[in-house]
Amino acid sequence: MASSKQLIAMIRSHAAGDDERFLAIADHIASDARKAGHHRMADEIGTLIGSLREEAGERRIASKPTMIAAPRGELASLVRASYPETRLSDVVLTDEIERRLRKIVREHRERGVLAERGLLPRRKVLLSGPPGTGKSLTAAAIAGELGLPLFTVQLDGVITKYMGETAAKLRIVFDAMQGARGVYFFDEVDALATKRGAENDIGEARRMLNSFLQFLDEDSSGSLLLAATNHQELLDRAFFRRFEAIVRYDLPPPDHVRRLLSNRLPQFDLSAVSWPEVSAAADGLSQADIVAAADDAARDAVLEEDGQLTDSTILQAIRDRKQPHR
Ligand SMILES: Nc1ncnc2c1ncn2[C@@H]1O[C@H](COP(=O)(O)OP(=O)(O)O)[C@@H](O)[C@H]1O
Ligand SMILES: [Mg+2]
Repeated sequence: MASSKQLIAMIRSHAAGDDERFLAIADHIASDARKAGHHRMADEIGTLIGSLREEAGERRIASKPTMIAAPRGELASLVRASYPETRLSDVVLTDEIERRLRKIVREHRERGVLAERGLLPRRKVLLSGPPGTGKSLTAAAIAGELGLPLFTVQLDGVITKYMGETAAKLRIVFDAMQGARGVYFFDEVDALATKRGAENDIGEARRMLNSFLQFLDEDSSGSLLLAATNHQELLDRAFFRRFEAIVRYDLPPPDHVRRLLSNRLPQFDLSAVSWPEVSAAADGLSQADIVAAADDAARDAVLEEDGQLTDSTILQAIRDRKQPHR
């Protein structure tokens, strides 16, 4: 019998318009069925796959090739595909940011309702803020909430010394957005706006950014484009203007320290922890630092404290994370 994992993966691949993956999973289910002695079921699935393959082949010839969720060819070197199970509730966010992100998710879930009134969901969202505040995690959570594949664009692969090449690579990614619905995550998007890769040639960098902005303008796919930057000062107004929502992340307020640590340490009794002291000690650390300190504290508790997690272990882990040049 098909496992629940296989079923979920199948539904996902269907949602992403990924025929190949859909059929590959069906193949697996058929061969599992055969191994388990369910020959009739295996035969039936096999016949269905055969006719679906024929149909898919005809469609591919008739229309332009559809991009599939497991990137192939040059696209494979430009984007990394994943299928996150992350949810927004896994991200510790201010109420304000959480409300705004949930709205965007809802627009995509209910895009049919919007379409009936001639409206589109917002599709271009910029996440901006210091490193380690949860921007990448948010990208995964949005993909997870929508049950869409997450395609992380490897800008290192996209940006080359040659402007023409960079534009051609961006074109491949934007074509994929059209072909396979998903969340396309341009992490460290400021790299497009700076001299990196363009070797001292500001004009070249400018042209690269312009071609990105032009692709953004032209995009009419059903995909969601998320961009993230740790360096918003490197980006200009022309850039920000292209995005339909800009979400600003920041270092955690004191009450988030408790939420981050508690979420990360569910196996420990934290009822005796003095949170004001711990929050004060964590001032200046990012969410990622605090989560890392939680893991440090958990290891210390298990190896050195008989599995009891005390204030002083947590405080020590936080202070250690604050050491420069760790
Ligand atoms: N707001 C947050 N809520 C929960 N965990 C977080 C948060 N921000 C960061 N983390 C933890 O730190 C890790 C790295 O954070 P990340 O999302 O990559 O930060 P950014 O992309 O902003 O640099 C995450 O995978 C997660 O474990
Ligand atoms: Mg990141």
